[in-house]
Amino acid sequence: MMNVPTDCYIGGRWQPAADGATFTVLDPATGAGIAEVADGTAADGLQALTAASGAAPRWAGTPARERADLLAAAYREVVARTEEFAAVITAEMGKPLAESRGEVHYAAQFLRWFAEQTVRISGEVRTTPEADARILTLQQPVGPSLLIAPWNFPLAMITRKIGPALAAGCTVVVKPAEEAPLAALLLTRVLHDVGVAPGVVNVVPTGRPADLSSALLADTRLRKVSFTGSTPVGRILLAGAAANVVRTSMELGGNSAFVVFDDADLDSAVDGVMLAKFRNGGQSCVAANRILVQDGIAEAFTDRVLQRVRAMRTGPGTEPGVDLGPMINARQRQRVHRLVTDAIDDGARARCGAELPQGPGFFYPPTVLTDVPAGSRIAREEIFGPVLAISTFDTEEQAVAASNDTEYGLVDYLFTNDLRRTFRVAETLQAGMIGINRGLVSNAAAPFGGVKQSGLGREGGFEGIREYLEVKYLALDKG
Ligand code: SIN
Repeated sequence: MMNVPTDCYIGGRWQPAADGATFTVLDPATGAGIAEVADGTAADGLQALTAASGAAPRWAGTPARERADLLAAAYREVVARTEEFAAVITAEMGKPLAESRGEVHYAAQFLRWFAEQTVRISGEVRTTPEADARILTLQQPVGPSLLIAPWNFPLAMITRKIGPALAAGCTVVVKPAEEAPLAALLLTRVLHDVGVAPGVVNVVPTGRPADLSSALLADTRLRKVSFTGSTPVGRILLAGAAANVVRTSMELGGNSAFVVFDDADLDSAVDGVMLAKFRNGGQSCVAANRILVQDGIAEAFTDRVLQRVRAMRTGPGTEPGVDLGPMINARQRQRVHRLVTDAIDDGARARCGAELPQGPGFFYPPTVLTDVPAGSRIAREEIFGPVLAISTFDTEEQAVAASNDTEYGLVDYLFTNDLRRTFRVAETLQAGMIGINRGLVSNAAAPFGGVKQSGLGREGGFEGIREYLEVKYLALDKG
């Protein structure tokens, strides 16, 4: 059994849920329970907020160098314990161990990057145009923040929030995903062990997330909510945040277009789509959702993709050589299968996969659909599973119009060797991020985030820390 804490962590102490309740974390490869975790209540959440509010002035006043050193120590500890974290991620979320190691690396980079940014928080001095006063700006922490993370990257989505919050001087209440809270709890132990003071980080796992978030959003001590998850849940949190005018950062759903022009390098386009689609089993908001291929290369592209997909090995993430682990749970798998069967009913052709497997665990085969009609649900909704939905286009205008024909705007991918076209199309696509001749945009040093209904704000990069800082302006008379 894994040596991972399973209680709430409040004010520097581990404690069970106020009502003693627990929920079960499942191994998606078998469907069997692997841990009983404290099912935090609204009262636990409020106790955590009390701890975060109490610790806020001291943490905000802790010298930036000290905050940076703590984040750097956490970075080193996470890297040193890569195997332990990777095993936990695979156990609770299912991705192959090699990918889990990749996630640990990715997660650690947020701690490292924000450790480096901590000492660079600074203000400005300007002079008014009338020359009668000086304008001084300070960057101050927003205050106690609620961080709500998803299950698909159970460690990286936590460090992407905790890193900048702590760097900025904010204290936090973290709600990890109920499907996969263990990596977050292990990280919490690391933060405790490296010396993060009681109350600075509080963690309340819960299977009753709406109770927790509404109690916290109703409390005026909470000054910020950062959420990664679906657009419908994001809308509810935004409405809740409106009551007390709480700052928000929202990383919501995506419906990315992956556009391949016929002047693209076919090998890199195929590599790109395999990465953009099958990283994390397609369970990512930046996964390629709609593959749009120009007519002239559609057949060659599809043949090569099919060859690669048919060679993929599906199985438990702990087995060597596995390319695709299980999906997170039965509900998600059923939802994806329904999207596939609806698309087939709409006229799409299933070229491989598309069959619900028998046996334990929540596996779904890597699936390729071609001739996907634009109006099909699979082209309009986020798939969040290992399904490649390919359709074709004739002109650049058609490709751009199809890409932008969605309420989402997180990321699009563009494959072309024409420099003028690269800029023309990239500037016209309605998305917060564009992958150009590559299938991966994620990096701790880059501003990750979307436009339209994909969210508000950015995580990572120089921008990420600003989400946790308020500008205070001092008007200084020139006298
Ligand atoms: C997500 O799917 O929510 C984030 C993916 C990433 O950071 O690459």
